[in-house]
Amino acid sequence: WYQPAVEPVRHIPQQATAASESAQNRILLKGGKVVNHDRMFDADVYIEDGYIKQLGKDLVIPGGTRTIDATGKMVMPGGIDTHTHMELPFGGTVAVDDFYHGTRAALAGGTTMIMDFVLDGKGVLPLDAYNKWMDKAGAKVCCDFSFHMGLTWWNDKVKEELPILCKEKGINSFKVFMAYKDLFMLRDDEILDVLKTCKSLGAIVQVHAENGDVIDENCKKLLALGITGPEGHLMARPEEVEEEATHRAIMLADQVNCPLYVVHVMCKGAADAVRRARMRGAVVFGEPIAASLGTDGTHYFNKCWRHAAGHVMAPPLKDATTPEYLLNLLANGDLECTGTDNCTFNADQKALGKDDFTKIPNGVNGVEDRMSVIWEKGVHSGKMDPCRYVAVTSTNAAKIFNIYPRKGHIAVGSDADVLVWDPTATRTISAATHHQKVDFNIFEGMECHGVPLIVISQGRVVLEDGQLHATRGVGRFIPTPCYSQYVYNRIQTRDVSRAPQKVDREAYDGPVIEIKMED
Ligand code: URP
Ligand code: ZN
Ligand code: ZN
Ligand code: ZN
Repeated sequence: WYQPAVEPVRHIPQQATAASESAQNRILLKGGKVVNHDRMFDADVYIEDGYIKQLGKDLVIPGGTRTIDATGKMVMPGGIDTHTHMELPFGGTVAVDDFYHGTRAALAGGTTMIMDFVLDGKGVLPLDAYNKWMDKAGAKVCCDFSFHMGLTWWNDKVKEELPILCKEKGINSFKVFMAYKDLFMLRDDEILDVLKTCKSLGAIVQVHAENGDVIDENCKKLLALGITGPEGHLMARPEEVEEEATHRAIMLADQVNCPLYVVHVMCKGAADAVRRARMRGAVVFGEPIAASLGTDGTHYFNKCWRHAAGHVMAPPLKDATTPEYLLNLLANGDLECTGTDNCTFNADQKALGKDDFTKIPNGVNGVEDRMSVIWEKGVHSGKMDPCRYVAVTSTNAAKIFNIYPRKGHIAVGSDADVLVWDPTATRTISAATHHQKVDFNIFEGMECHGVPLIVISQGRVVLEDGQLHATRGVGRFIPTPCYSQYVYNRIQTRDVSRAPQKVDREAYDGPVIEIKMED
């Protein structure tokens, strides 16, 4: 059987961090309704030294503890954003929200952990890229974080490093690209080898599913027709480009029975491919993002170039009926968890592609607004209950990436990443008031019900009364161990139940023709 999962809940306090060991680190959230993925219940939550120490009614707690009144509010796990690209070098420039501004904004919106992609160019070995990302992130992050490893090229030297990343560096997820031809794209035979290698390590393969060859061809065709604006980005990547690649990735993963996680599910066809595969029993997870749930691709046709370019990301946003379709599948369990693909560029950076849409740096915001957008579209609309909301914004991610119940759960022993959530309060999203560094917001003007009143990260209050108290560099790297039970238990059973069976039969003993060699 598989290695036992590391017991992630620790009852022994870690070494003291900068601000610990004071009464400030003892917090009682009193009178709220705790919301977990499986149930809601009235309970007080006592936090000490970064952990949830007690949960229930009539708790006996030390004197001098700060009490926060949560009456009439919900107390839920902080969000986990499964997909960010802080300060990503892309298209000759660097994403403007770095690990400081990006995670600070995350906290402002109720996200207390990000999973960022280590994504370096061809020729850089994964361990070197990992160290680079660790240096960049470690000095700046304001909340806990983990890494997914992007595999932008593939050969024996790259392959050799995967066991080290899995066993010593806390990585259990590897992303391959079927798009970005000549930049990040791998061929099917390479992807198959990645799948086999990851399977042998108990890791998860993530896929950017778009047909890169078709996109490359379409871009040339559109530019030749004089279509140089952001609408060309969508035209070059019609729905079937994403749908076909999603289907192909699922098929490839199924051949070797490796778990597959489809990042940024942006269209109906891709979501349906995931849904159908899950109905057949395949171990596949789909991740819609705040952008695909909260806005759509009609913006590519906006007359304002900056507005249209502000929505350019890959795969692109699709038609106006897509967000609700994806939301329905997320609500009903076909799609599993949510990220943002937060990768932001200012107007002057997007302008690198002012005369050629293929040169617009790809990416949009989301890390700050995901929690509110999904509450508005999911819970306020009546599609999800608060438990499902918690599942798709934190718990399922924690389970897939094997950090549950340390993260994604309100329980004794879990990390104190906790929100006091007001389901009735509203806020209007705007670039003028957001905490991100980027000068644009794809959700501009959206009024959202569901606002974090208090955000607690690592047991410290980082947001209250609208004031943000994020601290640079205090976020911890959270290792993600391989062989997540949530993912690999079924893989293991399917290895046995689907093993090819030889047919025992009598040997053929009749005549066989002879093939004559011609010269
Ligand atoms: O447009 C996007 N998505 N930029 C970030 C890189 C990626 O493909 O996730
Ligand atoms: Zn991608
Ligand atoms: Zn505009
Ligand atoms: Zn991405």
